Amino acid sequence: MSIVYLNGRYLPIEEAAVSVLDRGFIYGDGVYELIPVYQRQPYRMAQHLARLQHSLDRIRLANPHTPLEWETIVTGLVAKQPFDNQGVYFQVTRGVAKRDHTFPKDVPATVFMMSNPLATPAADVVESGIACVTAVDLRWMNCDIKSISLLGNVLMRQFAADRDAVETVMFRNGFLTEASASNVLIVRDGGIVAPPKDNLILPGITYGAIYDLAQQGNIPFAMRPVRESEVWTADELWLSSSTKEVLAITTLDGKPVGHAGHEGRPGPVFRKMFALFQASKPAP
Ligand SMILES: Cc1ncc(COP(=O)(O)O)c(C=O)c1O
Repeated sequence: MSIVYLNGRYLPIEEAAVSVLDRGFIYGDGVYELIPVYQRQPYRMAQHLARLQHSLDRIRLANPHTPLEWETIVTGLVAKQPFDNQGVYFQVTRGVAKRDHTFPKDVPATVFMMSNPLATPAADVVESGIACVTAVDLRWMNCDIKSISLLGNVLMRQFAADRDAVETVMFRNGFLTEASASNVLIVRDGGIVAPPKDNLILPGITYGAIYDLAQQGNIPFAMRPVRESEVWTADELWLSSSTKEVLAITTLDGKPVGHAGHEGRPGPVFRKMFALFQASKPAP
């Protein structure tokens, strides 16, 4: 029986319940985070909590906890799970109120947290890379908010699943944005290029880790708008997220990615970054 956290209490998931009037349920009015936990140690917790604050600020919802309180709740939940590698998911909604679009006054936020085993990609998936498809990004213009209103992302993820692909890489006005639940980075001439962290993408914490690791590993990293044509002619394409870590995209709409001896296979810069990323995780 899995133990979750709801509004100040740890309890079995079967006993955790929220009102049908919760604004998360009625409007998708809330934000969320997912922190990967390796060997019971949260990875980049401070960065995740800073992004949570950004999301809350953007939807004008007061943070119900200080960073220290959040850390205590996360640590408490992690300790209650029987597995070491975890994905700690938590969401904050604008609470329970009579249905009315405007913000309710003096209503406490709803805070829910659960932890699931962290299923990072298997070695054979890392070795082969993954298939992705492409689509026009039809989501809203506030993609930097880690909103629980995920319908656009859900539809894009299903678009990929229906085509036996892992993810949908999206373009807006001829430029790369991201994928339905991951960031997308490209490699050209030995350097990494990724879209800027603006309102069109989620500022991924894994993307941030890759940026830092690229500095360590002397790999050039440019943050700038990426044209769709640059994606199609890239030497390498990668996905990044807290659950996928960093993965090579080896086919896009069925066409092999890359060239020069690694067409349709993970490239040399990916292999270097994958090793740097693995080394950056808390050791067993
Ligand atoms: C739309 C989107 N972009 C990017 C990411 C990657 O973010 P992170 O590396 O923080 O997991 C996610 C993760 O859920 C996402 O949903």
